[in-house]
Amino acid sequence: MDSAIVCHQVRKYFWEEQEADPGACWLKRLRPGKKLAKAVDDVSIDVKRGEIFGLLGSNGSGKSTLIRLIATLLLPDSGYVSVLGQDVVKNRLAVRRMINRVSVDAAFFKKLSAYENLMYAARLYDVSPRQAKIDTEAILKRLGFPRNKIYASMENLSRGMQQKVAVARALLTSPMVLLLDEPTTGLDPKSKRDVQDFVLEVQAEHDATIILTTHDMTEAERLCQRIAIIDGGRVEDVDTAEGLKNKVGGPSTTMEDVFFALTGRDWSKEAEDHEAD
Ligand SMILES: Nc1ncnc2c1ncn2[C@@H]1O[C@H](COP(=O)(O)OP(=O)(O)OP(=O)(O)O)[C@@H](O)[C@H]1O
Ligand SMILES: [Mg+2]
Repeated sequence: MDSAIVCHQVRKYFWEEQEADPGACWLKRLRPGKKLAKAVDDVSIDVKRGEIFGLLGSNGSGKSTLIRLIATLLLPDSGYVSVLGQDVVKNRLAVRRMINRVSVDAAFFKKLSAYENLMYAARLYDVSPRQAKIDTEAILKRLGFPRNKIYASMENLSRGMQQKVAVARALLTSPMVLLLDEPTTGLDPKSKRDVQDFVLEVQAEHDATIILTTHDMTEAERLCQRIAIIDGGRVEDVDTAEGLKNKVGGPSTTMEDVFFALTGRDWSKEAEDHEAD
C-alpha cells in the first residue's frame, strides 16, 4: 500500500519555564531556569493511503504536537514529515490544501452562526455557494446537529454542538487527509456514535487518510486499522488493536490493558530524564 503520511525521526522540543522548587538549594530557587519538554522525540510513523491511524497516549504525551507538525502549524526541530509526497516544510501550502484538521480548540467566528461559519469555510475551499448550502445542511443533519440551532450564533451553542460544527467543517471540504485531534471528546454517546459513523463513511466513500487521537479505547479499536501508542513523545509500539493486545497479554486483554502496559512513566523516571538533560 502507498504511504500517505510519513514521519521520519521527527523531533519537537519546547523550553518550558520551570517552577521554583521550594526544596532546592538557594541558588536554584533564585534561578529556577527552564526545562526541556521533549514533546515529540524521534518519532517515525508511516500512515498508509485510506487508513485510519490512531494515536493513543496520556495527557501531554505529544499527540497534538505531532498532529500540528503534520498540519504545518509547527516546524520540526529535526527529521522529516511528508503528506502525499509533499514535504511539510518545503511545500507548506501544497500540504495545507490537502489536509483539514479538527481540534478541541477549533476557532470560529463566535458571533456568526454554524451555517455562516460553514459556508465561509466552504468558500475558502472553492466550493460553490449552492453546493456548500446543500452539503452544510446534509452534514449537520448527518451529525445529529439540532435543526433549530443552525442559525444561532456559535457562542450560544453548547460545547458538544460547537464540536459537531468543527467536525462538519473538516468533512465539508472532502480533504484527502484528515487530522482528527480528539473529535469526539465531550460528545454524548449518541453524538459520539454519529461522528464515528461519519468518519468511517468519509474513509470509505472519499478514500481519505485519517489520523485520529482519542482517549476512548473503544473508539480507537472501532475506527483505527492501526494504532500507535505514544508515551513521553516516543512511539512505544504500532500495530493493529488485535496485534497490540496479543503482545501485551492473553485473549482477555483489553485496549485499556495495552494502554496501561505501554504508557505511564512515573515521577521518578521523569526526574531521571530531567537530570540527564
Ligand atoms: N507551545 C508549546 N510550548 C511549550 N510546551 C508545549 C507547547 N505545546 C505543547 N507543549 C508541551 O509538549 C508536551 C506535549 O503536549 P501535547 O499537547 O502534544 O500533548 P497531548 O498528547 O496532545 O496531550 P492531551 O492528551 O492532553 O491533549 C507537553 O509537555 C506540553 O506541555
Ligand atoms: Mg492533545
